[in-house]
Amino acid sequence: MQKKMLTGFRPTGKLHLGHLHGNIKNMIENQSKYENFFFLVDWHALSTEYQDPKNIKNNLIDCVIDLIALGVDPGRTHLYRQSDIAAIPELTLYFSMITPLSWLERCPTYKEQMRELGAKDLSTLGFFSYPVLMAADILIVNADIIPVGEDQLPHLEITREIARRFNYLYGDYFTEPQELLSKSTRVPGIDGRKMSKSYGNAIFLSDESGIIKEKVRQMITDPERIRKTDPGHPEVCNVFSFYKIYKFGTIKEIENRCKEGEVGCIGCKDEIASIISDSLEDFRQKRAKLEKNKSLIHDILESGSKKVSEIAKETINIVRTRMGID
Ligand code: TRP
Repeated sequence: MQKKMLTGFRPTGKLHLGHLHGNIKNMIENQSKYENFFFLVDWHALSTEYQDPKNIKNNLIDCVIDLIALGVDPGRTHLYRQSDIAAIPELTLYFSMITPLSWLERCPTYKEQMRELGAKDLSTLGFFSYPVLMAADILIVNADIIPVGEDQLPHLEITREIARRFNYLYGDYFTEPQELLSKSTRVPGIDGRKMSKSYGNAIFLSDESGIIKEKVRQMITDPERIRKTDPGHPEVCNVFSFYKIYKFGTIKEIENRCKEGEVGCIGCKDEIASIISDSLEDFRQKRAKLEKNKSLIHDILESGSKKVSEIAKETINIVRTRMGID
C-alpha cells in the first residue's frame, strides 16, 4: 500500500520564501510518491488568533490558491480544511484522556511561543493542547511521512508518544509518523534572522520584482569588504545563503568569484534578486488565473474534505470501539 504523506498549514498570512523552501517545495517534490494529505489548519490558527479571527477564512483561500499555483496537484493530493473534518476534534478529545499534562508542559514550543507572542493572551486550554490537536490531525489518517520545519519536531515527538500510549493501552492501531526535513529548512530573512512575517524580514511570494530587488539590496553581505576587488567571505554573507538555495549546482564558482573579488556585492544582490523573481514568474501567472476562479477553489476543498472525512470516520469507529464508547 502507498504510504501517506501529510502536512498542515496555518492560514495566518501571506506565504513567503521561508514557507516555500522550508516545507512546501519538499512536499510538492515528493507528491508523486505518496498518497498526500495537505490541509489548512484553521483551528490551529484560532488558538493564537481567537481574539481577532476575521482574517482566517480569507487567508485560508489565499493559501490554497498559493499552494495550487506552486504545484500542489488536487488530482493527486487531498486538499482540505481542518475544520471540515469533525472526527479531528473527536479524536483530540480521546487523546486528551490519555495525554499526561507533563508532556505538554515540557514542550519547548509552548514556552517559546508564549514568550514570542507576548502581546497575545495565550494562557488558554486550546493553546496549551495545540500538540494534541496536531496529533489528531496526523493520526486520524494514520499518516507515515510528515514534511515539516525543524520547529515542529517537538510536536511530532508528542504525536508519536500519544500513538505509543494508545497502542499500549488499547492494542496496536496507530502508525508512528516520521518527519521529512528539507535541505534548507532555515531560510534567512533580509536581516539574517530566520525569515518570519512577524520579524518584518520576509520576501513574500507575491512580491513584485522591484520589491524583491529592494529587499535583497538591504541584505548584509561581508562587512570587511569595502571595494569590489577586496577578497570576500561568502560564509558570513546573507546573499550567499540564497545562492546556496537557488544555485546549488554552481555554488563553488559563485564562492570563488566572491573570494577572488571578481564580482561586487551589488552585482551579486541584483543577480540573485532576479533569479528569485524569475523563479516566481510561473507561480504569479498561475496564481492570477486561479484568483479569478474562486468557485473552483471551493469545489476542490469540498471534495478533499469529503474524501478525508470518510477515511477519518473509519479511524474514529475503531478508536470508539477500543475505548469502549461504541
Ligand atoms: N503546527 C504546524 C505549524 O505551526 C501546522 C500543523 C498543524 C501541522 N497540524 C499539522 C503540520 C500536522 C504537520 C502535520 O506550522
